[in-house]
Amino acid sequence: MNDFNVDVIDFKSTNAAKLLTSSLKNTGFAVLKNHDLNIDLINSVYSEWSSFFDSNYKFNYKFDLIKQDGYFPMRSENAVGYSTKDLKEFYHIYYPWGRVPEEISDKTIKLRHELVDIATIVLTWIDDNTPDDIKNNFSMPLKDMIVNSKTNLLRIIHYPPLKGNEDENAVRAAAHGDINLITILLSGSQPGLQVLGTNKKWIDVATNKGWLIINSGDMLNKCSNNYYPSTIHRVINPPEMGKYLINANAGAISVQLKDGLPIGSQFSVVHGGSGTLNIARSGSETINGAVSVTMSVQYAGAGFYKATSTEWYAVGAVT
Ligand SMILES: [Fe+2]
Repeated sequence: MNDFNVDVIDFKSTNAAKLLTSSLKNTGFAVLKNHDLNIDLINSVYSEWSSFFDSNYKFNYKFDLIKQDGYFPMRSENAVGYSTKDLKEFYHIYYPWGRVPEEISDKTIKLRHELVDIATIVLTWIDDNTPDDIKNNFSMPLKDMIVNSKTNLLRIIHYPPLKGNEDENAVRAAAHGDINLITILLSGSQPGLQVLGTNKKWIDVATNKGWLIINSGDMLNKCSNNYYPSTIHRVINPPEMGKYLINANAGAISVQLKDGLPIGSQFSVVHGGSGTLNIARSGSETINGAVSVTMSVQYAGAGFYKATSTEWYAVGAVT
């Protein structure tokens, strides 16, 4: 029997507060679905940051060593105890004093405020469902600890496609615990997050784009006298990833794939230009020799688009 289960909780269910607190206590993690975050806002923010990370503008915002805000290039961070740098780049926004790139609209700050609102709700749930003998250790209600905090961090992480020549020990994010009170992670389009279970086995955390993953960090662990664990977690590399050119014309799109890709790979599409692009899979494929997939495509507006899936990544122009 597996007693280590990260629960997926309906934000609007009547017992959400209890279930979330219980999952945090048992595993250090919980997943929230059916929340009120605006999906169009999320998609717009993803799109803007996708363009930002693909551009050279990012180098104008190189991180400040003292303030720790700004852009952190690939291989700037390694987990405690690891010498190999993580395969990610990221940007730190501290509101209201940190730098926000001028190429990024105010939607990111709007999303940040909405995430803080959810953090306040989650902390209230934890306050309400923590036993009194544990709660007595808190210097103030947890929800009050983040009010007007100057160190509340919004971290935008980008995992660029792997080129195949990376250090074999390098992963997206090596095993670590978070140092903060709680983390709210907006799920990306790729899975890969794993938590270390009580049996020392790595367990995949269920993700769907838009779901929120909540975890307790070192600070909550300390102030609750270990009642809430700060669970070790990591982000592993996808099994395959590379760049592929999309050649598209109205109504059809074909993608050249690499040998060995699993049949049944799914596309999800991030809009990287103007308009929107929806790809529905159709047609057939082989995985030996010349590999191609034909999909039907509906789109509004020409532009450059990026398609990602769990295993691979594609870039192309739709005209
Ligand atoms: Fe983390």
